[in-house]
Amino acid sequence: MNSRSFALTAMLTLVFGMAGTATAGDISRGEGISSTCIACHGPGGNSTMPAMYPSIAGRDADELAALLHGYRDGDIQDSQMAPQAAHLTDQDIEDLAAYFAAQEAK
Ligand code: HEC
Repeated sequence: MNSRSFALTAMLTLVFGMAGTATAGDISRGEGISSTCIACHGPGGNSTMPAMYPSIAGRDADELAALLHGYRDGDIQDSQMAPQAAHLTDQDIEDLAAYFAAQEAK
């Protein structure tokens, strides 16, 4: 490999590496913005009223993110949950999903 293509490869690795970081959920940021969620979904997402509010602790992060996109984008209708998701950015959704996925389901 000549030095020019090496530099190109290094640059692409950096760019894609950073893109990967940007889309992966940040657990500690997710925890920081989860306080409204736990009012209904319980501490760490373990619901104290599972018949009303589903437990979201320890669930698959991709599944949680897909559900949150669904509420935010109007694909899933729910009068309680849709307003909660309406203001979330894509990054918020990734971070919240990573945080709740990392919690132990009790
Ligand atoms: C006012 C109460 C309330 C708050 C606050 C709330 N939710 Fe919900 N959430 C609900 C209800 C009720 C449902 C079930 C809706 C349904 O049946 O579609 C739900 C469903 C969900 C689901 C889908 C669970 C499943 O098994 O289908 C996820 C994921 C979720 N909420 C995440 C969150 C996150 C993250 C937050 C914080 C940004 C949050 N919720 C804030 C009431 C709430």
